[in-house]
Amino acid sequence: MLFPGTFDPFTRGHRDIARRASRLCDKLVIAVMENANKNPMFTPDERVDLIERSIAGEDLQNVEVMHWDGLLVELYRQLGCCACVRGIRSESDFRYEAELALANRLLYPDYDAILLPCRDDLSLISSSIVKEVGYYGGDISKMVPAEIIDTVNAKLMKGRQQ
Ligand code: PNS
Repeated sequence: MLFPGTFDPFTRGHRDIARRASRLCDKLVIAVMENANKNPMFTPDERVDLIERSIAGEDLQNVEVMHWDGLLVELYRQLGCCACVRGIRSESDFRYEAELALANRLLYPDYDAILLPCRDDLSLISSSIVKEVGYYGGDISKMVPAEIIDTVNAKLMKGRQQ
């Protein structure tokens, strides 16, 4: 199963989806990808590294992390995936995911998606909120995994000084 996203940066919400999705399949590939509507702050290598460090302490033997700079369905086809998993926090997320799934299915009819509702306590977390709060020096410790807080903060502070 594939868990694609921009992950700029990886959040506690993303990690919860990864944990739960890993129990639903033999192998979960977390794919750091590009979204034409976003301009990521973290480089692809940095995003992969943040995810690897976030899940290192977990018992997630069947999870792999990679970067993919191309169409989602192309990776899906190459890996022979059974589905993509995406977390949904709200009705607007659901609409967006339904559109994404439809578009991907038009490109590749075998494409399928599994939408996992996020945990209540993580429902207001997003990478954008992390960046906004961290940029102004706010506490992001409840939003990102403990293993990556310092790195994320350092990058956000650097962005602020530029
Ligand atoms: O975390 P995001 O930004 O919501 O993830 C969106 C993502 C990266 C999964 C989506 O933009 C994507 O699939 N990008 C790769 C290019 C692609 O295949 N686009 C067509 C999707 S309709």
